[in-house]
Amino acid sequence: MNWKAFWNNKVEGLQVGRVLKGQAMSDELMQRIASRIVIQLQLQPTDSLLDICCGNGHLSKLLLPHVKEIFGVDFSESLITSAQEIATENLHFVLGDATQFSLNQKFDKVLLYFSFQYFESYAIGKLVLQNLLKHAKPGAIILIGDVPNQDQFFTYYNGPRKWWQWLKQELKNSNDMGKFWSKQELLNLCNELGVKGEVVPQEPWQPYAHYRFDLLIYS
Ligand SMILES: C[S@@+](CC[C@H](N)C(=O)[O-])C[C@H]1O[C@@H](n2cnc3c(N)ncnc32)[C@H](O)[C@@H]1O
Repeated sequence: MNWKAFWNNKVEGLQVGRVLKGQAMSDELMQRIASRIVIQLQLQPTDSLLDICCGNGHLSKLLLPHVKEIFGVDFSESLITSAQEIATENLHFVLGDATQFSLNQKFDKVLLYFSFQYFESYAIGKLVLQNLLKHAKPGAIILIGDVPNQDQFFTYYNGPRKWWQWLKQELKNSNDMGKFWSKQELLNLCNELGVKGEVVPQEPWQPYAHYRFDLLIYS
């Protein structure tokens, strides 16, 4: 799948692919998701936050009241252009690919949310984590959130209708779910990179808790 073309062409509402049964998520639910990220990343008013794969910046904006500044990075020109419309003096958005962007700054906290599935091999996932670590201060916390769980592949693809949909998309190379990662693969990546990784189950109220998990990394 050409993810860059996919995200450049996607006609999006406010929430960059966050839907529940075909409907955009409510503001209340988005706020609740943001509040959970605030707790997981232990965000402080003095923190600088790097938001990789920030999309149109909707989630970054919800996190801004909790930190000093945010840099959002995304490789979709159309989404970054729309994010730049909400930029302020402490909310910045730049075009960049997670595997190779380079900012002249290190951050207290790093977020990569609802996007790790677009890194479809172990080698690419490693490149991304290496690059995030390059931008993390010593002692920084990194949250890789909302990762589709390989063990729960059949919880997501849970019947003939979904299996058929999956097969058709695979044949047309148009599957937009990306890679279902195993927890062990991510923990192995952390080990190889010499950092502590901790798999965190999602809370039952989280919209995709039945087939996704979170990973916290301590640099
Ligand atoms: C589902 S959206 C998530 C947006 C936001 N993080 C959120 O949680 O609402 C996925 C985003 O990942 C971005 N993306 C995918 N692969 C990327 C890459 N290699 N480098 C930078 N951005 C990427 C897409 O452009 C898209 O904006």
